[in-house]
Amino acid sequence: MKNNIILIGYMGAGKSTVGKKLAKVRAYEFIDTDQWIEKQENRSIPEIFAKEGEEYFRCLETECIRRLLKEEKGKVISVGGGLPVREENRELLKQLGTVIYLKATPETIYERVKEDTNRPLLQTENPKERIRTMMEEREPFYQQASHIVLSVEEKSVDQLISEIPMLLD
Ligand code: S3P
Repeated sequence: MKNNIILIGYMGAGKSTVGKKLAKVRAYEFIDTDQWIEKQENRSIPEIFAKEGEEYFRCLETECIRRLLKEEKGKVISVGGGLPVREENRELLKQLGTVIYLKATPETIYERVKEDTNRPLLQTENPKERIRTMMEEREPFYQQASHIVLSVEEKSVDQLISEIPMLLD
């Protein structure tokens, strides 16, 4: 029977890129919680943060995984970087399927997201420092929420995808 594969990790770790390709090679459906929320709300994440605040967005994340729990399995699900911070979400994720934590260093993340304006939490004066402290705070949550930890350092998307089936067996 097909299970779900869930990808968690900090912004820029590659969850969506890896997830999309992984879904394709396994012929699974691909779901991205950020995209699900944007569609549901019919507006962008920066707009939701600006108009409703972070807490409202976090409630939508919980609603999204609750809905997915009721659906058929066989999906690759990429979740927003902050979703595993809520304890309730960590429990729901574990029920939803096999959770893989894509782990990167703050340096790698910074290089990947420095030009990006689509992530409201990184629109600060010192994004480098913000990334470092947030990653440190979130590390225990990512560890608790995951079944498998997979380092993304110096690996291509294809390399990561080729490692995942072995981890699932
Ligand atoms: C967030 C990560 C983003 C998005 C929102 C908040 C976070 O998703 O959900 O901007 O708190 O880390 P990605 O991890 O897909 O960038």
